[in-house]
Amino acid sequence: MAQRKFYITTPIYYPSSHLHIGHAYTTVYCDTLARWHRLKGEDVFFLTGSDEHGQKIERAAQTAGKTPLAYVDEIVATFQALWQRLNISYDDFIRTSEPRHHRVVQAIFKQLYDQGDIYKSVYKGWYCTPCESFCPETRLVDGNCPDCGRPVEEVEEESYFFRMSKYAPALLAHIEAHPEFIQPGTRRNEMVSFIKQGLEDLCVSRTTHSWGIPVPIDEGHVIYVWIDALSNYLTAIGYLSDEATYSKWWPADVHVVGKDILRFHTIIWPCILMALGVDLPKQVYGHGWVVLDSGKMSKSKGNVVDPNVLIDEFGADAIRYFLLREVAYGQDAKYSKRGLIERINADLANDLGNAYHRSLSMLERFCDGIVPAPGQPEAQDLELRQLAEMTVAAVDQRLAQLEANTALTELWRLVGAVNKYIDTSEPWSLAKDPDKKERLNTVMYTVMECLRIVALLAGAFLPETGGKAWRQLGLENYAEKTAQDLTWGGLQAGTRSAKGEPLFPRIDVAASLAVEETQPGDQGQTQAPSGKGAHKMSEHEGSKSSTKENEATLKQPAAPQQPASPGQPSAPQAPKTVEKQDDAEVNLITIDDFAQVQLRLAQVEAAEKVKGADKLLKLQVSVGEEKRQIVAGIAKHYAPEDLVGRKIAIVYNLKPAKLRGEWSQGMLLAASDDAGNLALLTVNEDVASGAEIR
Ligand code: MSP
Repeated sequence: MAQRKFYITTPIYYPSSHLHIGHAYTTVYCDTLARWHRLKGEDVFFLTGSDEHGQKIERAAQTAGKTPLAYVDEIVATFQALWQRLNISYDDFIRTSEPRHHRVVQAIFKQLYDQGDIYKSVYKGWYCTPCESFCPETRLVDGNCPDCGRPVEEVEEESYFFRMSKYAPALLAHIEAHPEFIQPGTRRNEMVSFIKQGLEDLCVSRTTHSWGIPVPIDEGHVIYVWIDALSNYLTAIGYLSDEATYSKWWPADVHVVGKDILRFHTIIWPCILMALGVDLPKQVYGHGWVVLDSGKMSKSKGNVVDPNVLIDEFGADAIRYFLLREVAYGQDAKYSKRGLIERINADLANDLGNAYHRSLSMLERFCDGIVPAPGQPEAQDLELRQLAEMTVAAVDQRLAQLEANTALTELWRLVGAVNKYIDTSEPWSLAKDPDKKERLNTVMYTVMECLRIVALLAGAFLPETGGKAWRQLGLENYAEKTAQDLTWGGLQAGTRSAKGEPLFPRIDVAASLAVEETQPGDQGQTQAPSGKGAHKMSEHEGSKSSTKENEATLKQPAAPQQPASPGQPSAPQAPKTVEKQDDAEVNLITIDDFAQVQLRLAQVEAAEKVKGADKLLKLQVSVGEEKRQIVAGIAKHYAPEDLVGRKIAIVYNLKPAKLRGEWSQGMLLAASDDAGNLALLTVNEDVASGAEIR
């Protein structure tokens, strides 16, 4: 059977300013689909690029004292650098300033002119330079552009027009016959009613600037934005230059665009293609926007979030995950740094990272790091296997429906199920009983095989993490794997794992946000320095000092000598000098200092001794839905089995640290006296695990 092809495009971005996380979303989203289709063994062509012509760029270059080309060269280089950092696997990056594109655009213009679909007339009306768009007076809002809200300019000039109105009936018929053409379906009616209101002929040339592709039959005109920009999708695959390549890829399987330019792609572009006698793309998907609490990101508001700053602090995959997970199909999504960190901590550090880290630790401890051959499966093993198989199908189905966010939900359901399976099958208990060796082997194999499948599935979304997880499992040649490798049982018994650092260390929310809060303008990522004082990923990885710090506190896990009461006023009403002296003597902290420490109630699910450390116990706890591991110096006071089921108080926002090679994600609280007595802090009433302690 012939190999299936998949041709996917992003919009080509204007190099009039730098890219923000909204642009990053579109490109990461397309990259995910491209990677997924490659994994399925399809022949994929993934196109992105830059839309370089127009008055806005010409003016910006002038202001910068550069030629337009020199100006865009610099900005386009930053686009490409960003895509590299985000691991965007595009097959071609098209620039509209390239000669290959000029030739195609001029030929298209000439054909349409020769066949009478382009004619010369006079344009009189309103023009929005930022949007590069003409606007009928009836659509203006208080005299401003209806799309961006900025002032429009009145222009009157001789222009060429494309007879778009002529193609309206055929376009309507196409939309009706192909309900999948416009995505999401909810936008289809909007487009249909726009067409039904009557399409005006489209102005396709300008004389007010010269930075563009000259009209082939009239040198004083340059071809105006949409014919130039949209045709990139044809140029890049050899239209009019390489028939075999062109007919291999066209029609595009999906053009992915933001909702603001859906109209151009589902009305203007199809009309141009119909006039050219070229098939229409199979689908156009208009996604929602990434917005801030304060509304739209805009350069003038100074609230544009720079993806580079976030990659510096959190890594590319964390940003990819956040964007893919937060933007629901066709909906807008909110970005906030807190939201980003919460996602990283909950989904990446706790769920995903922990699943690998604890499993690989157990494999090391119970099976010498070698994947065992499974024995006879029990019902819960088969259930998990079935879920893994269903997840493969579900992720595929969701991505076929263009829903990257729900595809991730499916994948995380499997990750959650693996964690739960570990909790309920308790490999640490099985490991204690030599008679249960076969059962332990089955459980460990089931866990590791699930994690192998998760690593492969995750690769389309999180390419770095997928590869890293794969290598930690002791596997090779990640990039060469295909969907066939998703079949259950692919993991060979005898594989030697290579456990490394956790895939995603937890981020210290308070520290990371504190950096932001000291920056001018709340969300002002563009102004934020990308490192200084910021919480770097490497600092989470159990540095010597933090380990020591934790060891020290673990030896004395009781509250400070003079604990501040939560109800206490933050500063004593006394003269400054006295206040200072008091502070020093009794080590007073303010209520704000106290608020920095998040205390929570956790339930102990499992406990065991830490090998080679006679004072340490390792606890698996749940904090609400969340699972954590805590290492505590209480082995002399409590037997592991006495702790299971207890609700204990923990410091929830303590930096994770390694104690004797084990990650501790928090610290439990205990009271200890000079006589050597120690008691865990707990609650007398029934309060849910995860509850805040204030
Ligand atoms: N050059 C045109 C596209 C031509 S395609 C033949 C253009 N460029 S753009 O740089 O202004 O925008 C590119 C894309 O970024 C658009 O799809 C737009 O919707 C998207 N986004 C701009 N801001 C966005 C968000 N805040 N969130 C998500 N996408 C956003 O339009």
